[in-house]
Amino acid sequence: MPAPTRRFMIFRGLAGGAAAVIASATAWVRPAEASEESEEAAGPILAKTKSIPVGGGRIINGKWVVTQPVKGTFRAFSAKCTHQGCPVSTIRGGTINCACHGSRFRIADGSVAKGPARRPLARKKIKVSKGVIRLS
Ligand code: FES
Repeated sequence: MPAPTRRFMIFRGLAGGAAAVIASATAWVRPAEASEESEEAAGPILAKTKSIPVGGGRIINGKWVVTQPVKGTFRAFSAKCTHQGCPVSTIRGGTINCACHGSRFRIADGSVAKGPARRPLARKKIKVSKGVIRLS
């Protein structure tokens, strides 16, 4: 086998350098992509756990209700009243309240505490991790 030429050695050096740059760029991009995918799979953020009072809750963007009936237990519901669809407006005294006709729903499970609504608020699945509550 003949000895490699100088031109061949320079070409081999450049090719090796290019491969190293591509490999390092790929390694740098992968963790960011993986992070975005896992956050996307977990669903949008509703609230931070510390923003939800124990024995109460918060109405989020007029669409969701997040409650903490007992310390460390979180629930989420649709904010749409099951009577005639008004958005619930307050959370007080252990109930989620609709001002339109006075229905009240329990913060623990969304069940009806006072009509005229007959059906519970629609419960939403959530994931709680690292102090953040997300829809799942
Ligand atoms: S729409 Fe809520 S009580 Fe009627």
